Amino acid sequence: MQETPDAAPKVGVEREKQVQQIFSEIAPRYDLLNHVLSLNIDRAWRRRAVKELRWESAPAGTFLDACAGTYDLALELASKKAFGGAVIASDFAHPMLVTGAPKIGGAAVRPVCGDSLGLPFEADTFDGATVGFGVRNLSDLERGLAEFRRVLKPGRRLVVLEFTTPPNTIVRAGYLFYFHNILPLIGRIVSGHPWAYTYLPKSVGEFPGPSEFGTLFESVGFTDVGWKLVSGGIAAIHWGAA
Ligand SMILES: C[S@@+](CC[C@H](N)C(=O)[O-])C[C@H]1O[C@@H](n2cnc3c(N)ncnc32)[C@H](O)[C@@H]1O
Repeated sequence: MQETPDAAPKVGVEREKQVQQIFSEIAPRYDLLNHVLSLNIDRAWRRRAVKELRWESAPAGTFLDACAGTYDLALELASKKAFGGAVIASDFAHPMLVTGAPKIGGAAVRPVCGDSLGLPFEADTFDGATVGFGVRNLSDLERGLAEFRRVLKPGRRLVVLEFTTPPNTIVRAGYLFYFHNILPLIGRIVSGHPWAYTYLPKSVGEFPGPSEFGTLFESVGFTDVGWKLVSGGIAAIHWGAA
């Protein structure tokens, strides 16, 4: 398969531009590819992530879904029967927010265009925060985590859902083959984007493992940090209290 050098995750401001460009360009095909490439398992992962949020202790609260994309995670929370609060869904790729907007319907999801590395919110604003498949794209992971902690009320939870690499050798071999060969091919054909779906496995490969990522949570001040692997370690859910 042909790759272009652009698929390699860049650093700093270049990374921000690269990520914003990718998601702006693939926005119209993002949902379709998401569900096809994950065989729809991503829906169950988002449900599991919301379960860890402890939103039930503030059912009328204000929650943040950062790097919200086309709102799947925000809607997972907002559509809970007992939820009477609001979800502020922020993302810096405007086309993702626009593409997902028809899905919001009457749900209490409020889109905000903003960078997760400098969130346009006061400190101690939110009763909980989620990030689904977003942190891997941040050019400064530590700064992003610190920013999520800043906007959370003390004691409230951040829950992060992100891809990781399965620990079992056999599962890992199958996963890596799929991730590096089949996924980029299908991604390229369906999205029409020459390298966005080559960037994806590369960015997952560069992302810290679950234990290291948990330590990073602690290093920015989160307490009661925990994590669990889902689907044999294809993805991980991390949480911590601000
Ligand atoms: C893989 S998508 C995930 C979307 C959604 N959370 C989901 O679960 O499907 C990653 C999203 O993160 C956004 N993103 C990446 N870096 C960001 C940043 N620094 N600030 C705001 N949004 C960012 C991208 O624009 C993209 O919409």
